[in-house]
Amino acid sequence: MIANTPLIPVLTTIDTVRSVVRERRGTVALVPTMGALHGGHLALVEQALNHADTVVVSIFVNPLQFGAGEDLDTYPQKLEADRDALAPLQSRLDATDPVTARIVVFAPPVAEMYPDGQEITRVTAPAVGALFEGASRPGHFDGMLTVVAKLLAIATPHVVVFGQKDAQQVFLVERMIRDLNIPVRVLTHPTVRDDNGLAKSSRNQNLSEGERRSALALHTALSAAASESLNGPPAMRAAGHNALEQDSLVRLDYLEIVNPQDFLPVADDHRGPALVIVAARVGATRLIDNEPVVVGAPY
Ligand code: PAF
Repeated sequence: MIANTPLIPVLTTIDTVRSVVRERRGTVALVPTMGALHGGHLALVEQALNHADTVVVSIFVNPLQFGAGEDLDTYPQKLEADRDALAPLQSRLDATDPVTARIVVFAPPVAEMYPDGQEITRVTAPAVGALFEGASRPGHFDGMLTVVAKLLAIATPHVVVFGQKDAQQVFLVERMIRDLNIPVRVLTHPTVRDDNGLAKSSRNQNLSEGERRSALALHTALSAAASESLNGPPAMRAAGHNALEQDSLVRLDYLEIVNPQDFLPVADDHRGPALVIVAARVGATRLIDNEPVVVGAPY
C-alpha cells in the first residue's frame, strides 16, 4: 500500500515497491538505511539522485542484525521526522506528486520482511565478517547481508549507495555482490562529519552532552594514528591508543590498521593504502569510525 503524503510517498509492502519500480521509466537507486536520518544519509540520497531517476530509500530497523542485549529496542525510529528530512530534497527536484516523486521511502513492518520470523535462509559472511564488528557483534554481518540481499531483490536497483563510515559493512556488501553475482553497482560516500569532526551517526542521538564531547575521542584517535602514517603501523596504533586513553568515558573496543583489499590487519612493515578503523563505547552507546590513509606517505 502507498500511504499518501505531501512529498515523500511511503511504501510499506514489497508488492508496491515492485510495482513502482516496474512502472517507472529509467534507472533506480537504493539507499538502504535504518532511519533516524541525518546529514550523512541525506548525502547518500543526493548521490543516488545524481545516478538514477528514482531513489528508493529503505527505512527498516532490521532485527536480524542485532544480537541479544544490543540496542534494537532503543534504536531511534522516527519515520515522520525522516520524511521531513527527505522532503526538501524532493521539493528541490520539483517533483512533489507521488506519481512522479523521484524519492520514495520503503518502510516495511517486520512481518512484511520476515513473515516466517527469523527461521529463514540467510547469507553467511566470509571469515573476515567475524573480525572487528563481527567479533563484537556475532551474527551482525549475516543479518545485515541477508537484509541487504532481500532489499536488492525487492527494489532491483541499478545502483546501491552506502556510507563509508561503515567500512567493514561496505567491504562485505561488495564481496556479497561479487560472490553472488548480483547485478548492481555499489557507490560509496565519504563519512559526513559535524564541524568538530564527530562522524554523523543515528546513534549520536543517544549521547548526552558530555558523552558527545567524549565521542570526539574517536576522531581524535584516528587523526593521531593518521598523523603517524609516515612512521608505519606500530607508531600509528600506539598514537591512536594513546589518544583514546585520555578520556575515561571512552571504552575502546578495537583500533586497527587494515588493508582495504582484504580488510585484514596490515603487517608492521606495510606501506601503501590502509584504513584506520576504530570502535568504542561512549557511555552505553557503541560508535565506529575510520579514516583512509597511505602508510609511508605524509598525512
Ligand atoms: O547501515 C545500516 O544502516 C544497515 O546496516 C543497513 C545497511 C541499512 C542494513 O540494515
